[in-house]
Amino acid sequence: MKRNEFLTALGISASTVVFAPYLVSCSKGSSLSDSGSNGTPSATVDFTLDLSMPANSALNTNGSSMISNGVIVAKTSTGMYIAVASKCTHQGYTLAYDNGTSEFHCASHGSNFSTTGLVVNGPASTALKVYKTQLTGTNLRVYS
Ligand code: FES
Repeated sequence: MKRNEFLTALGISASTVVFAPYLVSCSKGSSLSDSGSNGTPSATVDFTLDLSMPANSALNTNGSSMISNGVIVAKTSTGMYIAVASKCTHQGYTLAYDNGTSEFHCASHGSNFSTTGLVVNGPASTALKVYKTQLTGTNLRVYS
C-alpha cells in the first residue's frame, strides 16, 4: 500500500499530516504569546506568607526571593518587599530576581524587568503584573 492510499484509508489527507505539527506549535505559541496575560496568576491574588515558617524563610534575607502562587516575591537589598507575576511576558519562562541589578531576569531570551514590572530590555514588550505587599508581624500579604 502506498503512503497516500494508507492515509486516505485512515481518513487523513497529506496536508493534515504535514501541517499538524505546525498547528500544535501555533497553539503553544498563542498560549505563550506576549499578550500580557501570559504567566499572570488568576485575576485575584490574595495570599499570605508566614515568614516564620521555614518554607518562607528566604524572604527574611535582603536580596532573596521566592515564588508562590504564580507570583515572585522579592526582598530588595533595602528590605522592601516587591511582588510581580513570576512568568515572563515574552514566552512564559519563570523569572528570577537579580539582587545585583535589582531586576527580574528571564534566562530564556534575556528580558529584564524593573522592580515596578516595567520592561528594561526585551524581547518582552509587555510589563509584568505588579502586586501589593503588606507586612504585619511575620505575615506578608501579597494581593492585587
Ligand atoms: S521568555 Fe522571557 S525573554 Fe523570552
